[in-house]
Amino acid sequence: MRTQVAIIGGGPSGLLLSQLLNRAGIATVVLERRSRDYVLSRIRAGILETGTVDLLREAGAGARMDVEGIPHDGCLLADNGEMFRIDFAAACGRKVMVYGQTEVTQDLYDAQDAIGATIFNEASDVALHDVDSDTPHVTFRHGSKDHRLDCDVIAGCDGFHGVSRQSIPAALRQEFERIYPFGWLGILSRTPPVSDELIYARSDRGFALASLRNPMLSRYYVQVPLTDRVEDWSDEAFWDEFRARLPAEVAARLVTGPSIEKSIAPLRSFVSEPMRWGRLFLCGDAAHIVPPTGAKGLNLAVSDVHYLCEALIQRYRTGSEAGLDGYSARALARVWQAMRFSWSMTTMMHSFPEHGGFDRRMQQTELALLQRSEAARRLMAENYTGLPF
Ligand code: APR
Ligand code: PHB
Repeated sequence: MRTQVAIIGGGPSGLLLSQLLNRAGIATVVLERRSRDYVLSRIRAGILETGTVDLLREAGAGARMDVEGIPHDGCLLADNGEMFRIDFAAACGRKVMVYGQTEVTQDLYDAQDAIGATIFNEASDVALHDVDSDTPHVTFRHGSKDHRLDCDVIAGCDGFHGVSRQSIPAALRQEFERIYPFGWLGILSRTPPVSDELIYARSDRGFALASLRNPMLSRYYVQVPLTDRVEDWSDEAFWDEFRARLPAEVAARLVTGPSIEKSIAPLRSFVSEPMRWGRLFLCGDAAHIVPPTGAKGLNLAVSDVHYLCEALIQRYRTGSEAGLDGYSARALARVWQAMRFSWSMTTMMHSFPEHGGFDRRMQQTELALLQRSEAARRLMAENYTGLPF
């Protein structure tokens, strides 16, 4: 087989890139290790930045989001029961869209089907070859057959555990990492959300987040030690702990019910530089991971895709590789901004086992600054709603 751009991974990054390139007349093949059902069963975050919303529309995958998504122009922050609001619209003139990543992925698969894009689900043994030559290729197994896919460029969109980043010689990669000493236990429940807007709650018992998917579907999280396992947490125990971390007036109106999903995710900040080696370009979680505080993961994947797509369109329309040569630096500049934001929001809102009185005062002071200073709110709102691409 031959294509122009071979895309490894059919998560949001790979599907959006494939969709945008196909619409620009550039041929792609997507190789995804898992089944479509498996990919669509993963529950991830649910906040889309303005730029993400715009790009999904541009990709022809925004129609359902525009009907079912819920625009939010603010969020609430709480510190041991005291709560205040950040008005994004007032602070920076932008808002976000509440719409689950699972739905985004579904819409992208539907959009790809509608244009007849080539996606191999359950492609195994994907391997990259001759990446630092002008004639790269990818081999993989599908069904009982071995395949070879020749291409001009490989897009590594295969997430943190994928094969693409690992194909770059270790000596040419630099990795930056911060592992946080806790995870998030999340549940999904068919109950009315406790708040119309998201509540990020810091408390001496640990962090909690009240989020939502729609008026009858809530998504809630509590910070837990890394040693906890999902089996340790009954629904009852979750609700008790979640309630105890919310401001009293919010806790009083919490409606509980059985969880329909429950999982624990560790928190990590990770960047691998550069995001290019030869003919291979990394996008999304393949190159970087943020902690979920601030919901930057999917949005960062989308900005990478936007930059790479622009560079590839330039290459195929004009023959110039300037965009491809500048891709890694351009993407990383925005990646580090989001790294800083999600790290600082994580640090401000969580209980760290090693923290003492000084660190606690710093958290209180940062939250007080947001309450008091329009400049601080603007900085937060600009970052939360998304820095321009
Ligand atoms: N071969 C083919 N596909 C692979 C391989 C492989 N060796 N390894 C992983 N994959 C697939 C995974 O099964 C997954 O579907 O690559 C896909 C990567 O998808 P994601 O992990 O979702 O990463 P990405 O598309 O970059 O999405 C960005 O934003 O909110 C965050 O982490 C969240 O998934 C989210 C991400
Ligand atoms: C979510 O709804 O899952 C969510 C929202 C905001 C975050 C993280 C996760 O910061």
